Amino acid sequence: MTRSTMPAKVVAKERVAPDIWSFVLEADERAFVPADAGSHIDVKLRSGLVRQYSLVREPRNGTYEIAVLREERGRGGSKELCDSVAVGDTLEISAPRNNFPLDQGRAHYLLVGGGIGLTPLLAMARSLHEQDRKFDFHICARTPEVLPFRVEIEHSAWADRVHVHYTGGNAPGRLDLPALLRATAPETQVYICGPKRMLAIADETTRDWRAGRMRTERFTPGDVVAAPEDQGSFDVVTARSGKRFQVAPDVSLLDALEQNGIVVDSACHEGTCGTCVTPVLSGELVHRDSCLYDDERESGKLMAICVSRAKPGTELVLDV
Ligand SMILES: Cc1cc2nc3c(=O)[nH]c(=O)nc-3n(C[C@H](O)[C@H](O)[C@H](O)COP(=O)(O)OP(=O)(O)OC[C@H]3O[C@@H](n4cnc5c(N)ncnc54)[C@H](O)[C@@H]3O)c2cc1C
Ligand code: FES
Repeated sequence: MTRSTMPAKVVAKERVAPDIWSFVLEADERAFVPADAGSHIDVKLRSGLVRQYSLVREPRNGTYEIAVLREERGRGGSKELCDSVAVGDTLEISAPRNNFPLDQGRAHYLLVGGGIGLTPLLAMARSLHEQDRKFDFHICARTPEVLPFRVEIEHSAWADRVHVHYTGGNAPGRLDLPALLRATAPETQVYICGPKRMLAIADETTRDWRAGRMRTERFTPGDVVAAPEDQGSFDVVTARSGKRFQVAPDVSLLDALEQNGIVVDSACHEGTCGTCVTPVLSGELVHRDSCLYDDERESGKLMAICVSRAKPGTELVLDV
């Protein structure tokens, strides 16, 4: 992780669902950086793994709160956090970053969260309530037992805005997401975070919506198909540092920059966290990320350089 970090002490750890633990991390007063709803932090583990976690509430009094699903089939980051990190331990964390910010001043907001994707939306619901904004919050969980923060949600001041859909077993409450989205008024701003299937259904249903009317956040990379003909070498010019070099087909743009002495902050290296997003001055881009919004990709002005490239044989000019 090249992004700068700060030490944060684990001051609380609580099991909030059978496979989900919440952690309250206290940063040093001088290092603490405030954040808006939708933000996430990078957590660097003792093993060296770096993972991103959304803040479940806007941070106050120098503390950040996250909730982590223990992923049995993952590469070990969440298991390490849930199994080995205890109250009193110190972790290295980044300052918060927000790829999923709340648009201000909308007439109505629709929040839809599935599984652990609930986390950034919890912070949004709290924030919208504090701002006295109109919103509806749909939550999908398999059963009441696996819904994290269930008691807190049920007793919140905004509980009347919450619609919980239990999807497990014979539960009758499965959310008809296409129907919900189609019934949404054009002035409603939509935010969705959840499993890949939920996000794929949302993308499919809103294909003809105006750009920006629905915002999504992905915790894992989307199914981006890399066309082999887009994998060739291309030239890079770095406008501010005045360099020119070629990126080989088997080297990422992020690594090529680093090999040429230009270090850009990065964390996930799989196009999901947004840390490496870099301004582009010109070029034919081949986007492979899961963190930019469609309008940002179409603008041609930003790219996630850990996974995205330029068309083979072309010249890319970056503002670095
Ligand atoms: C912006 C952002 C916010 C996030 N917020 C949260 C949050 O609030 N709570 C939370 O629990 N998680 C969150 N995540 C996900 C988190 O960062 C980790 O990915 C997650 O904890 C799993 O880590 P892991 O090392 O256990 O598994 P990973 O190895 O990261 O695997 C994650 C999933 O990918 C699949 N996978 C397994 N092996 C591989 C492989 N070799 N390559 C690619 N994929 C594989 C698995 O199916 C697994 O379920 C967030 C991610 C992002 C980008
Ligand atoms: S490092 Fe996470 S998107 Fe590139």
